[in-house]
Amino acid sequence: MSVIIAPIASSLPAFLATKAYTALAVLVDEHTKKHCWPQLRKLLPSKPLLIEIPSGEGNKHLQTAEKIWSQLTQAAFDRHALVLNLGGGVIGDMGGFCAATYKRGIDFVQIPTTLLSQVDASVGGKLGIDFQGFKNHIGVFQQPVAVLVDPDFLQTLPWRERRSGFAEIIKHCLIADASMWQRIRRLDLEAQPWPELISHSVEIKKQVVAADPTEKGLRKILNFGHTLGHAIETHFLGTDQHLLHGEAIAAGMIAEAFLSYKRGDLSESDLGEIEEFIFSIYGKIKLQSSDFDKIINLTLQDKKNQAGQVRFSLLTALGQCGYDVVVSKKEMKKALEYLL
Ligand SMILES: NC(=O)c1ccc[n+]([C@@H]2O[C@H](COP(=O)([O-])OP(=O)(O)OC[C@H]3O[C@@H](n4cnc5c(N)ncnc54)[C@H](O)[C@@H]3O)[C@@H](O)[C@H]2O)c1
Ligand SMILES: [Zn+2]
Repeated sequence: MSVIIAPIASSLPAFLATKAYTALAVLVDEHTKKHCWPQLRKLLPSKPLLIEIPSGEGNKHLQTAEKIWSQLTQAAFDRHALVLNLGGGVIGDMGGFCAATYKRGIDFVQIPTTLLSQVDASVGGKLGIDFQGFKNHIGVFQQPVAVLVDPDFLQTLPWRERRSGFAEIIKHCLIADASMWQRIRRLDLEAQPWPELISHSVEIKKQVVAADPTEKGLRKILNFGHTLGHAIETHFLGTDQHLLHGEAIAAGMIAEAFLSYKRGDLSESDLGEIEEFIFSIYGKIKLQSSDFDKIINLTLQDKKNQAGQVRFSLLTALGQCGYDVVVSKKEMKKALEYLL
């Protein structure tokens, strides 16, 4: 898997020079068309097929995928064509899925333009769409031919989206690099060394994925914070307390660090530092004890579960993570209480 972190003006022409494609499509949404497409357009040799889809998770479904496949078909794209996915995780997951299945698979390049997609979604080859309300329910594992990360695209990203992506950077530090955690926790959001953090996160994700591409074991550590975090995200979906993915994961990481502490794997002061830093950046979510049963039930849908047991990825120390830890409903309730 080749991930290049460099200005797009150098990485894209260098990539295109490596192989002759018969046709080229660029997938955008209305935001990346406005903010990112102008930089890309001038780097492309011929006029590509521009496919625009509406932004947002709510459009990451089969009907949009069908529109993408239709446009590739109408333009008579053959198996030697290329798709460039220019956008956040929605564009990358869905554009990658459409490319990986069109005529049994054509090449695609991820050009992530949100912090979350640069440090997480674009690396690792998980592609897919939501189906009947279930997230990423239909999909495949397929690696892109390249991932071209240009931190400059983040200049136009709304602040709340940047903060959301930062949660995955925090996660990578907590599961794999205690010394980087000690650095970032002393800085506020504005002062973070973004380009360095992006390469650092990409490196960690790449290494974990290379060791276990299809999530049979080790890759599960990337789910730290995500079992309760994802349930919290789903719980607030469509309400006026709607949370971005990273905002829910931030809360999930505190709750799951608490579970790690309860198992004796994390010291009280480590837990205190995690809680203090995350609350200082994200604030507290508006949780009530009456929400707990529904959130706990939602964890039963988690993809990591086996034989009806909810399995967590929990810290075994600062900078280390284990997986397949069975956690009871009672323990989950205690962890949620810790967020109040
Ligand atoms: N494949 C994976 O391993 C993986 C991992 C994590 C998340 N995901 C998926 O990623 C998706 C979330 O990704 P996301 O957080 O990037 O959300 P997103 O793709 O919805 O992008 C967020 C918003 O930012 C806008 N945007 C994108 N780039 C911009 C820019 N440079 N300037 C201004 N606006 C810009 C988008 O149009 C959108 O409105 C989810 O669907 C999730 O399932 C996948
Ligand atoms: Zn995540």
